[in-house]
Amino acid sequence: MNSTFRSHYCGHVSTALIGQTITACGWVHRRRDHGGVVFLDVRDRTGLLQVVIDPDTAEAFAVAESVRSEYVIQCTGLVRGRPDGTVNPDMPTGEIEVLGKTLCVLSEAKTPPFQLDEYTPVGEDVRLKYRYMDLRRPELMANFIFRARANALVRQYLEKHDFLDLETPQLTRATPEGARDYLVPSRTHQGAFFALPQSPQLFKQLLMVSGFDRYYQIVKCFRDEDLRADRQPEFTQIDIEASFVSESEIMALTEGLLKHLFATLLDVTLNDFPVMSYQEAVFRFGSDKPDLRIDLEFVDLTDVMKTVPFKVFSGPAHDARGRVVALRVPGAGERLTRKDIDQYTRYVGQYGAKGLAYIKVNDVTAGRAGLQSPIVKNLTDESIAETVQRTGAANGDLIFFGADRAKVVNESMGALRLRVARDLNLVKPGWCPLWVVDFPMFEEVDTGEWTAVHHPFTAPGGTMEAFLENPYEHVSRAYDLVLNGTEVGGGSIRIHDPKSQKRVFDVWGFSPESGRAIFVFLLDALEFGCPPHGGFAFGFDRLIMLMVGAESIRDVITFPKTQSAHCLMTDAPSAVDEAQLIELGIRRRQSTHQAHTQAHTNEEMN
Ligand code: AMO
Ligand code: AMP
Repeated sequence: MNSTFRSHYCGHVSTALIGQTITACGWVHRRRDHGGVVFLDVRDRTGLLQVVIDPDTAEAFAVAESVRSEYVIQCTGLVRGRPDGTVNPDMPTGEIEVLGKTLCVLSEAKTPPFQLDEYTPVGEDVRLKYRYMDLRRPELMANFIFRARANALVRQYLEKHDFLDLETPQLTRATPEGARDYLVPSRTHQGAFFALPQSPQLFKQLLMVSGFDRYYQIVKCFRDEDLRADRQPEFTQIDIEASFVSESEIMALTEGLLKHLFATLLDVTLNDFPVMSYQEAVFRFGSDKPDLRIDLEFVDLTDVMKTVPFKVFSGPAHDARGRVVALRVPGAGERLTRKDIDQYTRYVGQYGAKGLAYIKVNDVTAGRAGLQSPIVKNLTDESIAETVQRTGAANGDLIFFGADRAKVVNESMGALRLRVARDLNLVKPGWCPLWVVDFPMFEEVDTGEWTAVHHPFTAPGGTMEAFLENPYEHVSRAYDLVLNGTEVGGGSIRIHDPKSQKRVFDVWGFSPESGRAIFVFLLDALEFGCPPHGGFAFGFDRLIMLMVGAESIRDVITFPKTQSAHCLMTDAPSAVDEAQLIELGIRRRQSTHQAHTQAHTNEEMN
């Protein structure tokens, strides 16, 4: 790109330009004084360029001696090959350098709050406070350049498939996607609030009613939920909706998009994605987003353990909602110590497990005598033989057991599977995408209540009559896309018939009588000719996080928030003027959250 300031980006200067005079601009990454010669590594978003300035060019030399790290400079000079023995093979521009003729300082810089190299460890708090400095680090900047390329490819792909980029409101009303809303007070309607969208779900469906047929948007969504490494309060979806389609078409389209991104950006060919039912995923891996890079799998022993004297096992085995599973970890008998097992026992405790029984397999041919374990004495010969046979145990293996309500077993043993695999390096390299389908419409939560698994616009599978007869055991037409154990996207076929939608709302508790009939406008719209439709949303940040190999989505969001949803740089959220509150008709009072924290503090102090 031509610029009044420069002729070339730093990283684009190559041997092809030897003998030419160029002008580059950038930040002083490093300055080295070498016996009367000054070397500057100049950095811009494309990379580093070595500039050499010798005392013959007195004026430039004087400037070079004055510049410090992170000064912004402009330099004109002659491109030349580096002398023999000074070529740097680790640097893309390592074969050349620029012999500087003129050098000028465009901006001075204070000493950076931290070193911008990858070797010096710096606390994340400091990095987030000076995020604009952190973003100068080439490794971090590379994530955002990657993200921008992915964004452009997504648009190209979807436009090629006739999708229209349409915008939807950010000031709207709450949609039930399962999280708390961020609210925005209205000045013109005192006491009333907008909600920032948790997703454009309702609007994209209404665009189908209008007849746009194929919609997409790369759009910010807002959810006030507990944050983790793969969750931020504002995040980006690649949001998609289409009319006159069934699940297979949406799945083929979005699978095709992912394959296209991987092929173009990473040169990786993804095979067709396997499809697994929710039930199978939970039965085999204890999770609806199984990481298939890990070969470890549950072995169900519920039937076998019904008759053992060990109550810890026989109790859940007899309970219709209980289950007993084994998880065999090959070779772990030799690699894990008692201390490790104690640690894992505490770990599964966080998921509600009351213990973690195990068997160390010393000699698989010796029956009970070949097994080392606090529990074998309480097991029958048949149950031991069956356990060995079903798990395929071999000498040196360790078998863990979980016995409890199925939900507790799945969550605790599912988490253990991931943790042990990570600790023992059992996670295979590469990419394991899969579709998870046939989600239930509802699931039971700890309180014994039922909540919907997806949003209330998701169509039930089968007939509406069958659904209404037994809504809690019914599957939905939803599908999730899982990549290496992370849910990178999800969607469903929607209900397009107003009568069915109304009945589903009733089951959800959004009936007119409930006082929560907040989607009347949707029911209205469905009355005016709504095509069958469905859609999908990728979590764009999560996808990029996986593709660049980042540990957290914070590394692919330019200005992310902390774990407590705080921006350390701008100090948002922040108090506002009393005058602003008066204008909005808002008076502060203690929130339930504050009251709760206060009570907690008091308790701790007592
Ligand atoms: P869902 O709620 O599954 O579906 O969201 C879609 C995808 O968005 C990502 N995601 C998040 N990423 C970062 N931080 C968060 N807090 C966060 N929450 C969700 C996940 C998830 O798979 N309207 C539906 C889509 C549809 O039915 O078409 C929806 O929002 O990767
Ligand atoms: P106990 O008889 O309670 O001392 O338990 C014997 C062994 O079973 C110990 O190793 C416990 O960690 C384990 N254990 C206890 N409860 C469970 C459970 N619900 N699931 C799996 N193992 C358990």
